[in-house]
Amino acid sequence: MDSFEVNKFLGALLGTCLVLLAVHIASGAIFAQPIPAKPGYVIEVKQEQPAAASGQPAPAAVPIANLLASASVQVGQQTAKECELCHNLGKGQGAKIGPDLYGVVGRKVASEPGFNYSDALKAKGGTWTFDALNVWLTNPRADVPGTLMTFAGIDNEKQRANVIAFLNSNSDTPLPLPKAAQNGAGSSGSTAGNAPAPASSPPAAKAPSK
Ligand code: HEC
Repeated sequence: MDSFEVNKFLGALLGTCLVLLAVHIASGAIFAQPIPAKPGYVIEVKQEQPAAASGQPAPAAVPIANLLASASVQVGQQTAKECELCHNLGKGQGAKIGPDLYGVVGRKVASEPGFNYSDALKAKGGTWTFDALNVWLTNPRADVPGTLMTFAGIDNEKQRANVIAFLNSNSDTPLPLPKAAQNGAGSSGSTAGNAPAPASSPPAAKAPSK
């Protein structure tokens, strides 16, 4: 093989490489993928408002007694349909995913025989009072971390009070509703002059002189 033959061979090799390079560049230009301005799918995440965002302590801001005073058992019964996904509400109907809620107001926490409560709820102790239910139903998993009740809770305090009023009525022995706090403005009579030292006498309240 003389040097001319070698040159021809190397030339062919170089040419092939150049052609491959050209094809590569050309295909890059043809098949170039424009980068989309927006990704093909956008995952919308609903931002939940943190309860205390407004700077005031959101849970139990109004005493449950005051809310219960104007609560509606009928409306509460409608709202309680959400609970029926997991709870029976009727007497003696037994457990579903959660324990039967008949007569739950005033019942000991985690006390339905035969229901397999979480350790977290068993450890809570106490009784389902109006107040306890108010806190629980606001956000069960905040009240009892580790509870099996995977229910987000009822944000609206009026709705919550309606449900609690319904739960109370849904019982052999409904409890008397707690008395609403009077905020010291209870007496509307005109006997203020004789009242022996009122607990709080706001200076702004001027009694009209007779
Ligand atoms: C997704 C299912 C589910 C929904 C919906 C649900 N719960 Fe529950 N609930 C449970 C489970 C499960 C438990 C037992 C929790 C545990 O053992 O930690 C429970 C426990 C309870 C308890 C404690 C009972 C006891 O015997 O100590 C009350 C009270 C209660 N739920 C009320 C309600 C109310 C009222 C609603 C509707 C506003 C509701 N739940 C909606 C699943 C649910």
